[in-house]
Amino acid sequence: MGKSTLLLEVSTVLAQKSRKVLYYSGEESALQIKLRADRLGLRSDNVFLFTRGTLEDLKSHVREILPDFLIIDSIQTLTSRKTAHMSGSVASLRYVTAEVIELAKRSGITVFLIGHITKEGQLAGPKTLEHMVDAVLYFQGETQTDIRLLRAEKNRFGPLNEVGIFQMSEKGLTSVNDPSLVLIQNRRSQAPGTAIFPAMNGMRPLLTEIQALVSESPFAGNPRRIAIGFDNYRLSMLISIIEKKLKLPFYKSDVFLNITGGMVIREPAADLAVCQALVSSYRNIIPRPDSVLLGEVGLTGEIRPISFLETRLKEAIRQGFSTMCLPAAQGTLPNYHDISVISIGSIHDLLDYLKK
Ligand SMILES: Nc1ncnc2c1ncn2[C@@H]1O[C@H](COP(=O)(O)OP(=O)(O)O)[C@@H](O)[C@H]1O
Ligand SMILES: [Mg+2]
Repeated sequence: MGKSTLLLEVSTVLAQKSRKVLYYSGEESALQIKLRADRLGLRSDNVFLFTRGTLEDLKSHVREILPDFLIIDSIQTLTSRKTAHMSGSVASLRYVTAEVIELAKRSGITVFLIGHITKEGQLAGPKTLEHMVDAVLYFQGETQTDIRLLRAEKNRFGPLNEVGIFQMSEKGLTSVNDPSLVLIQNRRSQAPGTAIFPAMNGMRPLLTEIQALVSESPFAGNPRRIAIGFDNYRLSMLISIIEKKLKLPFYKSDVFLNITGGMVIREPAADLAVCQALVSSYRNIIPRPDSVLLGEVGLTGEIRPISFLETRLKEAIRQGFSTMCLPAAQGTLPNYHDISVISIGSIHDLLDYLKK
């Protein structure tokens, strides 16, 4: 993905601010790291490199160099002499991590631990690692593209939901100036089962495509409900509301929901967009390609107001969207020209709108 690249770039940025960085690599030789640094055009006398060694060696280097920052690439490759007999085990990983955290706390060094994630997207090793640290950042990307996302999953010092969007090239990672454009560039606008939602990531609005596939279930009475990047319980709730209020028999169908681009949406404001994706897939309706949807769906099928309305609308307008489906309570608020506002008071209004 580019974890080593990212942290090597971060090291150099810190070094340029006259901070000392000790970079431990258990995966690559000093020569390999030098080749990468040359390719990325990075140079600094303040970045110290240490490859292949034990926790005890690392500690003695820390005492000698007294770095401000310590980077461990990766925590899975750092072993201790004390746990040599069980190296690679979960217990060893936990021991080494606890020792490193102790070192960080005692000496005031800020430590970055690189960890591998499993195919299921979990940090390899015990879940307790995530509890032990102050912040957990996920660095992800689609394998086909050079786009990389850096997301905060846990943060004791600031907001969650912040996301950094980068492009990986030969010269390293560069920040993407217009992430909304990147996220929606590959969409097929004339397809059922889609909706565009301006999601808030920290204080940044990002247009995100939500896709649903509703297909007849081969398992009568036990259909699948699978959400990627969206809460599974919330998906089930929205399906139940659609079934009950719109009399659409979803219980016969498998439902897959995907937030594209590897994004994660945790905001209730996305409910209406999720419902459009679901209903339009089920009824095979192509939604208006120039529309975005905003609204929380309540249990009685009512559409409730959402936060950051102006910010989200501005981003949608900037990207050329001109139809805004908004909660009825907020449908008269914005004062924009050249956009049409569709006021949605209930889930019934959504179906009526889609059928037009
Ligand atoms: N010469 C190169 N030109 C462009 N991209 C490269 C080059 N070498 C490696 N990469 C990219 O760097 C990424 C791997 O970076 P790296 O920091 O080693 O990842 P990780 O530490 O997560 O395994 C890959 O996405 C690869 O495409
Ligand atoms: Mg690496």
